[in-house]
Amino acid sequence: MTVTTTGTETAPAHAATAVTAAVTGAVGTAHTRVEGRDKVTGAARYAGEIPFTDLAHGWLVLSTVARGRIASVETAPVLAMPGVLTVLHHRNAPRLHLDYIGMLGVPPDPTAAVFQNDRVPHAGWPVALVVAETSEQAREAAEALVVTYEQEPHDIGFRGDRPDAFTLDGHMPAVTEKGDLDAELAASAHVVDVEYTTPEEHHAMMEPHAATARWDGGRLDVVDSNQGTTWVADELSRMFSLDASAVRVRSEHVGGGFGSKGVRAHQVSAVMAATALRRPVRVVLNRRQMFSLTGYRSPTAQRVRLGADADGRLRALEHRSLSQTSTVWDFVEPSAGVARVMYDAPAHRTANEAVRLDVPSPTWMRAPGEAPGAFALEAALDELAERCGVDPIELRLRNEPERGPVSGMPFGGRNLAACFREGARRFGWADRDPRPGLRREGNLLIGTGTAAASFPAGAGPSTASVTAEADGTFTVRIAAADIGTGARTALTLVAADALRVAPARIRMRIGDSDFGPAMIAGGSTGTRSWAWAITLAAGELRERLAGEKTGVPVEGITVRSDTTAALGALAQKERHSFGAQFAEVAVDVATGEVRVRRMLGVFAAGRIVNPLTARGQLVGGMVWGISMALHEEGIRDRASGGHYNGDLAGYHIATNADVPVVEADWVDDPDPDDPVGIKGIGEVGIVGAAAAIANAVWHATGVRHRNLPIRPDRIL
Ligand code: MOS
Repeated sequence: MTVTTTGTETAPAHAATAVTAAVTGAVGTAHTRVEGRDKVTGAARYAGEIPFTDLAHGWLVLSTVARGRIASVETAPVLAMPGVLTVLHHRNAPRLHLDYIGMLGVPPDPTAAVFQNDRVPHAGWPVALVVAETSEQAREAAEALVVTYEQEPHDIGFRGDRPDAFTLDGHMPAVTEKGDLDAELAASAHVVDVEYTTPEEHHAMMEPHAATARWDGGRLDVVDSNQGTTWVADELSRMFSLDASAVRVRSEHVGGGFGSKGVRAHQVSAVMAATALRRPVRVVLNRRQMFSLTGYRSPTAQRVRLGADADGRLRALEHRSLSQTSTVWDFVEPSAGVARVMYDAPAHRTANEAVRLDVPSPTWMRAPGEAPGAFALEAALDELAERCGVDPIELRLRNEPERGPVSGMPFGGRNLAACFREGARRFGWADRDPRPGLRREGNLLIGTGTAAASFPAGAGPSTASVTAEADGTFTVRIAAADIGTGARTALTLVAADALRVAPARIRMRIGDSDFGPAMIAGGSTGTRSWAWAITLAAGELRERLAGEKTGVPVEGITVRSDTTAALGALAQKERHSFGAQFAEVAVDVATGEVRVRRMLGVFAAGRIVNPLTARGQLVGGMVWGISMALHEEGIRDRASGGHYNGDLAGYHIATNADVPVVEADWVDDPDPDDPVGIKGIGEVGIVGAAAAIANAVWHATGVRHRNLPIRPDRIL
């Protein structure tokens, strides 16, 4: 028997407390989170704290060597420890099916396929799961488990000049090129040829990964914290060779994801253990385990070459990025992709390369590619502006492309120039003296910087159902994920407008794979994809209700939608959200400390559904930009292959004391091809933020910092 955590059919709790919007016009009106009260009172429960009767607890054992083979797993002494129920490892775990293309159109990430062989591909690889009656017993036994290895030499040495770099064409080509780069560079009045590096960075979301798996009347039921319940259900059903209908995944509240909450070792090992023991099994990761099990952003080494006429018009643009991947899974951080959208030149070349090392598999992390890529490209633009003696904003305006520089397609709205103009006005850019190193307040040098932001605006197929209830309320069911973004609230506003009722009459049910296929909370596509499906279903429901003569029956009237066919409307244009970032910094020349004093971001990111949570989302991205510029750096030990700083004491992130006044705003930019006008705001906020700060540090000090983070020891 389990405690039911979803499925309450009472009137929505926010009905009495919400800011009431007009019956239509909910979209665009600030609205507090519909689940906000539940979150601040603790009524909202997260995956790791939902009670289950007869629950057993699994604790993962991670390899202590960086490469080799498992020679033995000494289970007998551990099985005799108090409360221990079983130890799963490569000799007794079920074999998984991995030969498929999943819902997102890619093969499964074998990083999640634990205990399939004796190979150890990196330090911190899962080699066993100890399951016990309590979490404490499981952890104690896991720490006591002796695993011996046949160790092999490992290589974790990431650097820009690796001779073994490779390219991989995936969703996008690895290399794009046009024109004669050498000729255009030779003919340029000004040339910038610079290298940038960014370190290994980690998602560090508040809520660690946690999953409980159990068998319930012949169905596998997984309560999890993820970015897409149908995605995780689809992958688990294929891996375990189950009918799609035999798997249900729920994920009601999610304390952050940022790209890391997909299918991972904790869900897969929990399913294995629940199957072996025939009782519910929970696997929770601790922070240290997350550093090697849940993906991260690869370090990058990037080279940018720009050649321009005397007036700053680009003749040549080359952006080359090298990232690392594991020996298990090829994930290439596509940092050079940003140059394919931002600036054109007669000679244009971009390349994303990678090298396979004995490290954990990297993955998507907020603005994958664009975040490190825009640091390099936008810092290089600032260097070119200095070289040309042209204002950095004016330089960008002179290089605004008419069409996608690589795609050749028209832009589905760009509005970057409007962002720069509005941002410059509000930030006071016109008063800026471009010369570096001139503004001094005691030990502090003061500077300002700017950079552009962009991120693709797409949508994925989704289904939704909308039910008109007999009591005049409406229930929306969609397998959306609110990973802290406010998606649940945004969709409530979208549904309210589509149904032409007040938001308080909408009951928004999300985070359950039984609601049918839906796009993940990823790629900044979630809210747009789900809003589209809800709008379709709600529109049809309104028509049905208009023709309904006898009132709504007790069971309600339900309409389902599927956006698969409708998304073709997006195909013929290059669609991105854009933005202009501004930062002011103070650099302490005695301590080397950089303090961001203020930031402003102005974005062109489609129609803004809920200004309250949208601002939070954009500011959150910008704050992460501060973190990326000044703090974050995962450091590996060459000898062990593991982290020196795999916890939140050693891995620094920007916290309240590091964050000044950060303002985010937007210009009018609805997407005419989207039924609600949405583009997407999930990721664009971080893009360019670190470059704006690095450019401000140059303006303060006269020194270019091309390696992140800009630590005090690098300043001095
Ligand atoms: Mo995001 S990196 O698409 O979760």
